[in-house]
Amino acid sequence: MTKQTPDLNPLKRSVLYVPASNSRALSKITALDADCYIIDLEDAVAPDAKEEARQSACDFLKTDQGRKDNIIVRTNALETDWGKQDLISLASAGVKTVLLPKVGHADDIKGYADIISDINIWVMIETPLGVLNAYKIATASERIKCLVMGTSDLVKDLRAKHVPGRLPVLYSLSHSLLAARAAGVDIIDSVYLDLHDNDGFAATCKQAAEMGFDGKSVIHPKQIDVANEFFSPGAEEIEMAHKMIEAHEHALKKGEGVAVLDGKLVENLHVEDAKRILNIAGLITR
Ligand code: COA
Ligand code: MG
Repeated sequence: MTKQTPDLNPLKRSVLYVPASNSRALSKITALDADCYIIDLEDAVAPDAKEEARQSACDFLKTDQGRKDNIIVRTNALETDWGKQDLISLASAGVKTVLLPKVGHADDIKGYADIISDINIWVMIETPLGVLNAYKIATASERIKCLVMGTSDLVKDLRAKHVPGRLPVLYSLSHSLLAARAAGVDIIDSVYLDLHDNDGFAATCKQAAEMGFDGKSVIHPKQIDVANEFFSPGAEEIEMAHKMIEAHEHALKKGEGVAVLDGKLVENLHVEDAKRILNIAGLITR
């Protein structure tokens, strides 16, 4: 397995798709609170608008906002008419992270990595093959930092249905999450398409946070705050993390490996998780 290095942008509670063809949406980014932005050249852009969208993305990358570490650009797949030129143009415009669509095999990554050196890679997991090969894909290069679920394509390919609770894609979500964790990379849940269904959106955020996802892909500014809230550690969680670390340190000083806090066992593994939670909390308040 390849050794993973830290990502440029550790917070990923909300990751907003912004079609590169929509200049008004692009101009909004500065005023929004998403942790990351995916400037999209792929599914959100019509074939006739691909080249103009690529130019807009490249122009945006040269602005102050565009140079930030939390800006990712989703390219078209290499086998399309636009994929290779997307990579070449974005690389020369200074892109820091690209998101590759419809990756099915670890070998696909090599094709991209040969064109773009020194650029971080995020990968869409959105096909049946991609799900099955998620671990091999996630470990194909040390430049891979994050997997992004795409359940719209997946539901289509599976001939499944979008239903509350997401039972038809739950195995795919869990499998990909397992692969990401085993590989040591982050993983973001997919989008929620119904912009009017606030309860349904909140329910999928809650489910994804409980499963262990690092954040949620969002398609509209109105979804950002809800995603940020569900993927932020709560006040109680933060307080408990502090208490666990203290209790464990206290036990270690007495020569004991484990502590008991409020009747519950605290081991080293709990301390590691408590430190991860405090790290995220620290990044949010910074
Ligand atoms: N990024 C940045 N700004 C956005 C945005 C986005 N994804 N979606 C909407 N906005 C802005 C609009 O520009 C608008 O700003 P304004 O009031 O200053 O004009 C404001 O938020 C309200 O938008 P609204 O009128 O409610 O929505 P819309 O009809 O303009 O757009 C969508 C609706 C779904 C077309 C749009 O949200 C969108 O394109 N989302 C991303 C889709 C995508 O990327 N899909 C691919 C991955 S699944
Ligand atoms: Mg897709």
